[in-house]
Amino acid sequence: MSQQFTEEELKLTVSKLRKELLAFKQSENASKIELSELNQIFQTVADGVVVIDKDFNVIRVNDTFTVLSGFNERECIGRKCYDIFPGALCHTPGCPMVRISCCAERVEYEVDKQRRNLSRIPCIVTATPLRGQNGELIGIVEDFKDISRLKRIQADLQQSFEKFRKSMGGIIQAISLTIEKRDPHTAGHQRRVAKLSRAIATDMGFSWDRTEGIRMAAAIHDLGKIHVPAAILARPGRLSEAELAIIKIHPQIAYDILKGIEFSWPIAQTILQHHERMDGSGYPFGLFAEDILEEARILAVADVVEAMSSHRPYREACGIDKALEEISKGKGVLYDPKVVDVCMNLFLKKKFKLE
Ligand SMILES: [Fe+2]
Ligand SMILES: [Fe+2]
Repeated sequence: MSQQFTEEELKLTVSKLRKELLAFKQSENASKIELSELNQIFQTVADGVVVIDKDFNVIRVNDTFTVLSGFNERECIGRKCYDIFPGALCHTPGCPMVRISCCAERVEYEVDKQRRNLSRIPCIVTATPLRGQNGELIGIVEDFKDISRLKRIQADLQQSFEKFRKSMGGIIQAISLTIEKRDPHTAGHQRRVAKLSRAIATDMGFSWDRTEGIRMAAAIHDLGKIHVPAAILARPGRLSEAELAIIKIHPQIAYDILKGIEFSWPIAQTILQHHERMDGSGYPFGLFAEDILEEARILAVADVVEAMSSHRPYREACGIDKALEEISKGKGVLYDPKVVDVCMNLFLKKKFKLE
């Protein structure tokens, strides 16, 4: 039995349907606008973005991805991702699809990707899961950030840094040669101290860079002696108090000469402290233990060992055994115990030679 509506009821129903239709159209329009906005964002982001299904088929790509890979959108869709934009992790357990299938939530790595014209482009890749309405994994979204410009800047900076370091090395070399012209004995002493200091620093586990700084400081550590009259430096026998006082200012003289140069290592400070001793009995400041730079503690030991074991114009060489005996006696009192141990090991076990 069909239901009879009054004219009033029919009008109400039609009006309600109209309202619902209007609301539906409005929401459809809103969805279209939203979709168009999302599409514009997807297409114009600065990174290349590709959506891939679980079988490695490309489903969607944005404009930046087509520029990066060299393939247009039509050529990308439906092809395997590893054919379009291959990299070192394709077909390996490190492949982001493999890792995300094994439950990784985000995979990020740096890799060189191969473009259509076979050139390579360094990228940071970020991959995240693409899930269906029920949360099941249906593919991945990969984001490719082109870092070729960054790499070029990095390479330029590295080159400038290398040039700067070379100039620093040149300055040290020039100073060292200047000393050699005036005082060949000091020059030979500095060369051997530099060799031993570098060996100690290396065996103490210092980085190559820090070791290089210690070697350079050692190569010119007695620069301040250019201020000491040659007659005092070469005179045999005991020196007077006044003569000793003159010799003792050589670390400060060297520091004053070098302090204005911006080395990338604490060269001026290391030289300033190379006659400081752990118990505070050294000069020029009488610094104690940890207050003395580790670099200077290494230089101090190398300096004493070389000075005692080598011949001087004013005395015969005491020999390496006497030199090692001296640092053993002074271990922990005058000299850093760790430095002494490493130095002893170098001569006694590793057969290190000063020349
Ligand atoms: Fe010295
Ligand atoms: Fe010295």
